[in-house]
Formats: sequence, structure tokens, C-alpha cells
Amino acid sequence: MRILTGFLLSLILTGGAAAARAGYAPDFDSGIDVRLAIEAALDAASSAGGLLPEPQGRPERVQTVWVSMEKSDVAALDGALFKSAPVAQNKRIAIYEYKTDRLSELADGMQRSFFRAPGFFAHDTLESALEDLKAPPAVPARAYTLDQAALVKDLAGRVKEEPVLAVINALSAYKNRGSRYATGVDASKWLQKEWAKFAEGRPDISVAPFKHAAFPQESVVLTVRGASEPGKVIVIGGHIDSVAGYGDTPAPGADDNASGAAVTQEVVRVLVESGYRPAKTLKFIGFAAEEAGLRGSADIAAAFKKEGVQVEGMLNLDMVNYKGSEKDIYFVADNTSPDQNAFLGKLIDTYLGYTWGTLKCGYGCSDHASWTKNGYPASYAFESTFEAHSPFIHKPTDTLASCGGSAVHAAKFARLAAAFAAELAK
Ligand code: BES
Ligand code: ZN
Repeated sequence: MRILTGFLLSLILTGGAAAARAGYAPDFDSGIDVRLAIEAALDAASSAGGLLPEPQGRPERVQTVWVSMEKSDVAALDGALFKSAPVAQNKRIAIYEYKTDRLSELADGMQRSFFRAPGFFAHDTLESALEDLKAPPAVPARAYTLDQAALVKDLAGRVKEEPVLAVINALSAYKNRGSRYATGVDASKWLQKEWAKFAEGRPDISVAPFKHAAFPQESVVLTVRGASEPGKVIVIGGHIDSVAGYGDTPAPGADDNASGAAVTQEVVRVLVESGYRPAKTLKFIGFAAEEAGLRGSADIAAAFKKEGVQVEGMLNLDMVNYKGSEKDIYFVADNTSPDQNAFLGKLIDTYLGYTWGTLKCGYGCSDHASWTKNGYPASYAFESTFEAHSPFIHKPTDTLASCGGSAVHAAKFARLAAAFAAELAK
């Protein structure tokens, strides 16, 4: 349910918060009817309602959810939507408790929904939400070196469009990859099977689902065990779920985010094809339930931190196949590691020759934020400036055709991610 709230809030919040961002005007005309958005949120939110056979119907019970969001985003919204005070807050973050039966009230106050949310974390419990008020642990300073030119050249040269297209097509063929839909579960299972093929004849490679208590969709984790320093881990991944409208609305999510999942797989494919054995451990992850409040990645990053896993770098790939701006690759500058972002820029300048820029996407807009929150250096490589990103996301029209039918743009991100892996896992 929390998601439900999260979603709702997200929809509500989005307009104001996005408008507050430099020069971004919410596209009201192409907004979704808010009642439909609420239905979508209900669908996505119910953790106790069991697996929906397909994207339809919704639970009726009242549930509670705790959502953490940035106060500047809240301030940009209609105050009527925040009748009750936050249950907790610090200078930057506020936590709101929502009950699902308040949704109609919220809906009444809302005539429209917006293009996207400003980002939020959805929590099962207040205890978990309260953790978001703590400052993230400091990321230890480290040196970044670039000395794997031959390896990077080899890996980058192996990247192909066709395998990326195949994954985008396969994932976007599921009607809706929502984290509690049967079709969302099926899509995760399909990816697990695909990734398991890379482990054949490679005892150092394993594929396992990461199961989540609150929703049925599993995250997918492919591990390449490091040959000499297996305790040090580099994470590359993107979310596998999708969202659009409500009920049986198709949510192909080709750009958001079959593209990021496909690029993640393409990096694995070229690593395996080349026979490369990293010194440190590489983990490639397809995150479940990002659209429901970053819930899959939040579970995984928190588990890693609890277990003391040393994550030396995390790269998030979310929306990488719509070329809306002049430059090739854009790095999210907020809630990411400035040092690692600079390193990624240097990888491009040194090895790939693409043009790159930066953007801001707001508090918790995607899975990198879960890693940042847990004190790990995380970056987010994105397709365009904020203003020029795909206008089709979260709609039935987020198809490969809407991205021009090719994977030329996505392939650049696969080359960058391969360079990131090669230079960090050495
Ligand atoms: N891929 C988007 C994030 C995004 C959209 C970044 C547009 C930059 C521009 C992501 O899947 C998403 O929709 N995130 C939500 C928040 C999330 C917690 C539901 C968002 O930012 O609207
Ligand atoms: Zn996304």
C-alpha cells in the first residue's frame, strides 16, 4: 500500500516539484487522469493482496504506508494534499503516513496528475522510513585510475545493437511488468533464465533471484566472482519493472526501463564472450519494484550494508535509449558520488569520445539513491537532459518504436558500463 501512497503522492508531487526544477513545465495535457493513476497505485501497492493474475482489479482494504520525500518537493505542492503534519522530519526530508482510504480525498483535490514524480522512498514500516532522516554514511575517498585501455577497447568493440534490441523487445512484450502482477513476475523469471545461460561452463558466474518480502516480483542478480579480491564488489544494474495508467493498461516500458536492463545484460554478454575474469566481483542486477518507490534496490542495498558487503562502485542504468538531447550521455548530479561521476566522464573522454553532460533528477528518482543512502558510491547515466527525456514513459506508448526502433543510443551506455566494470574490477 505504501506504494500506493507513494505513487499517488508521486503523481501529485510531480507537477509542482518538477515545475520547481529549472525550467521544467509539467505536461498537463498529456497527464493521466488522476483516478486512473490512483487505481494504478492501488494495484502496485498492495503487498498483502497477493499476486494479481494479470494487471486488473484492486484490493479494497485500508493499509498504511510511510513515504519519505524532500521537503522542497512537498512545499511545491498543493498544501491541501498534506493536511496532516509529517510524522517525522529533519531539515531536508519529511515522512508522511498515508492510509489508502485517504486516497479518494486526495483525488478529489487533484484534477490531474503529472509527468513524473520528484522521487520518494516507500516503506513498509515507520522504523524503516525513519532511517531516511539519518545522513548517509560518508563515502570514503578513493583514487580512480585508467590503465585498462586494451581491455576496454576489446569489450567496447564487442557491444552490438542486436542483443540489446532482443532484450528490449522481449521485456516490452510483457503486458505490464508491475511488481505485483503475474506478468511482472514472469518477466523477472524470463530474465533469470536468460542470464543463467551466461553461467554455463563458468563456475565463477552464478545467477540468483533476490526475493522481496513485500511484493512477488524478484530482483535478478548475476554475480561474476572476483578472481583475487572477491570481497570487493562493483554493481551495475537497472530496474526491470514498468508502470502505466491502471488496470489492464499496457505498460511496455521499453525505454523505462527495458533499455537499462538490456544494456546491463549486454555488458554481461561481452564480458563472457571475451573470456575476461575480473579481479574483483561484479554484480549485475535487474531491480524489482523501482516504480513502486525504489523498493527492490532499497532491500538489496540495505541487505548488502547489513552484511558488510564492500561495494566499491554502483552504476544505475535507467532510460538509456531515447536520444532527446544533443549530447550522448548525461550524469545525474544529485544524490550520486561526485568523484565517481567525474571518473565516468573521464572514461568517456579517454576511451569512447562521446559527448556528455549532467542533469538533476530529484530525491530518490531511481535506484542509485538506494545505494547512496547506504553509503556506497553510486552514479546514474541517463539518456538526455531532464527537459528532453522520453515523453512516452509511464504510458502505453513507451515502445521501442518511440525510441526510433534502434538501440544505437543504448549501445553507448553498454560501452561505458563495460569500461566502468573493467577499470573498477581490476
Ligand atoms: N526512470 C524514472 C526516473 C526518471 C524519469 C529520471 C524522468 C529522469 C527523468 C523512474 O523509473 C521513475 O519513474 N521514478 C519516479 C520515482 C519513483 C520512486 C517512482 C519518478 O522520478 O517519477
Ligand atoms: Zn525508470
